[in-house]
Amino acid sequence: MLDQLNQIEQSALQAIEAVQDEAALERWRVSFLGRSSPLMQVFDQMGTLSKEERPLIGRRANEIKKALETALNGRTEALRQAALAHSLASERLDVSLPGRPLPLGRLHPLTQTLREIYRIFAEMGFQVYRSREVESDEYNFQLLNMPEDHPARDMWDTFYTTTPGVLLRTHTSPGQIHVMYQYAPEPIRVILPGVVYRYEQVSARKDTQFTQVEGLAVGRSITFGDLKGTLADFARRMFGQKVRARFRPSYFPFTEPSAEVDIECFLCAGAGCQVCKGSGWLEILGSGMVHPTVLRNGGYDPEQYSGFAFGMGVERIAMLRYKIEDIRYFWANDLRFLEQF
Ligand code: DAH
Repeated sequence: MLDQLNQIEQSALQAIEAVQDEAALERWRVSFLGRSSPLMQVFDQMGTLSKEERPLIGRRANEIKKALETALNGRTEALRQAALAHSLASERLDVSLPGRPLPLGRLHPLTQTLREIYRIFAEMGFQVYRSREVESDEYNFQLLNMPEDHPARDMWDTFYTTTPGVLLRTHTSPGQIHVMYQYAPEPIRVILPGVVYRYEQVSARKDTQFTQVEGLAVGRSITFGDLKGTLADFARRMFGQKVRARFRPSYFPFTEPSAEVDIECFLCAGAGCQVCKGSGWLEILGSGMVHPTVLRNGGYDPEQYSGFAFGMGVERIAMLRYKIEDIRYFWANDLRFLEQF
């Protein structure tokens, strides 16, 4: 019997050395310490032993049971440590590695240009006023001194809706009427940014949708000198302190007198190049003194109030600033274009 016990101990301790995972350890426990293991059978047979044998065998069997339990605990702990070490190794983090660069978004070149324009006019005391993109014929044309069949309407090829008298605004100028109507007879100094629509043949220079910034100042003693000073200052802040502006007589139905503003070509400094088509000047906006009829339509008495207005194309300004050759790039969503700004 003692030999048998020694045998059990030896093979159990040998077998546990080969155990590499929890499942194998459980199998080991069942076969060496489980209910029907040879060791437990020895305990079960105690009753059949003689009086002399019983304490000897009993003590030895208990010793072995303790030894096997100790071995089991030791192995359990060893496996746990090994698993931990393994997971630590696989989760290792090298804190000295440089971080992964995140792709950075950026503002659209038109947004950048618009914000620059807002900043400049804000410094001069202009507020931003937003008005609708779907307009009535009345606001887009009639109240701007263009009754039905007025020949000047030909300056704006228009997208009409299926509702009579409702169209997509062809310029931001109808916003002038909205803002005057809302604030008359208070003095006004606002810019009106927004998208406008024209029924055009799309080309490198013309798109059916583009952005304008309109300006309007109305008060009791506003003169053409204020218009000149404001726009010449804007040109310098936008394009550079040395840039000169010139005012060319022009015609718009809603201003009298009207002027177009050119700036000296900053690419050739006035010498003449491809961009300014050899003239040395670049046209950047239309402007003028608000027509008395328009002032009256906005709720101001033209005998007491006067004002100036202007309107510029933002794509055109961005094209000049960044030397962009095709207006279609702005709405094409091509990252190769956008990532340059
Ligand atoms: N609305 C004109 C256009 O779209 C631009 C313009 C010219 C606006 C003169 C004005 C202005 O306010 O006074 O071509």
